[in-house]
Amino acid sequence: MQRLQEILETRDFIMSKTDNQPKIGMILGSGLGSLANEIENPFKIPYSEIPHFAKSEAIGHANELVIGQLKGKTVVAMKGRFHYYEGYTLDEVTFPVRVMKALGVEQLIITNACGAVNTDFNPGDLMLITDHINLVGTNPLIGPNNDELGTRFPDLSQTYHPDLRNIASKVAKEKNISLQQGVYAWWSGPAYETPAEIRMIRTLGADAVGMSTVPEAIVAVHGKMKVLGISCLTNMACGILDQPLSHDEVIEVASKVRTQFVGLVKGIVEEME
Ligand code: HPA
Repeated sequence: MQRLQEILETRDFIMSKTDNQPKIGMILGSGLGSLANEIENPFKIPYSEIPHFAKSEAIGHANELVIGQLKGKTVVAMKGRFHYYEGYTLDEVTFPVRVMKALGVEQLIITNACGAVNTDFNPGDLMLITDHINLVGTNPLIGPNNDELGTRFPDLSQTYHPDLRNIASKVAKEKNISLQQGVYAWWSGPAYETPAEIRMIRTLGADAVGMSTVPEAIVAVHGKMKVLGISCLTNMACGILDQPLSHDEVIEVASKVRTQFVGLVKGIVEEME
């Protein structure tokens, strides 16, 4: 259970460093952190300096919070996130989402790099997350509920908010960026899936698979935030092509679509309230 006192201490620490009051939050996934470089007048705080934050060690991630302006909106971006597979508890993984909420963030854009399960998709495609499947068998809300943070049994029927999905589709169309849509399945990792697991995941109804996003999205909805999820499909999932998966490829493909990804998210932020 996340403790209100720790959340408020962290919020107060951040507020003591900057006058910015972000309304939009962003979690930037593997290879997608360059979006944070677009933030104007950035105020950067390494996670290691933020009270109660864990430290992220995943390759391909800088580990800092960046607060500033993007398209005239005040935003707070996580450049690098905490993954369950690194050994962090789900409280640690999702703590920054609670802090963003305490800072005043009402809308959260969660991004990730993931594998394409739907064989109509291609590496390098971007995908709007319409829904998710939690395959990990745990949940960040397990434990006593803190009613000050959210309700005991939150409804997840519209986890990825229709208003924000509409904005994303509209911006993609205007900017001529092809944007797939689909269901994201959360896999714990750190090992990639097997070919048999990918067949199972497809049968269960997922279009993409990755090792993040779902815990943060659940906690954001618990905190009554609107969530938008955007995936970069960096590879065909295991067994679809006759080639092994590699993290280097994931990072390489994610950075190749950087321009499109940055253009899409900036356009979305511009249109958000
Ligand atoms: N599976 C799980 N996570 C991933 C993948 C994948 O194929 N690609 C990038 N992240």
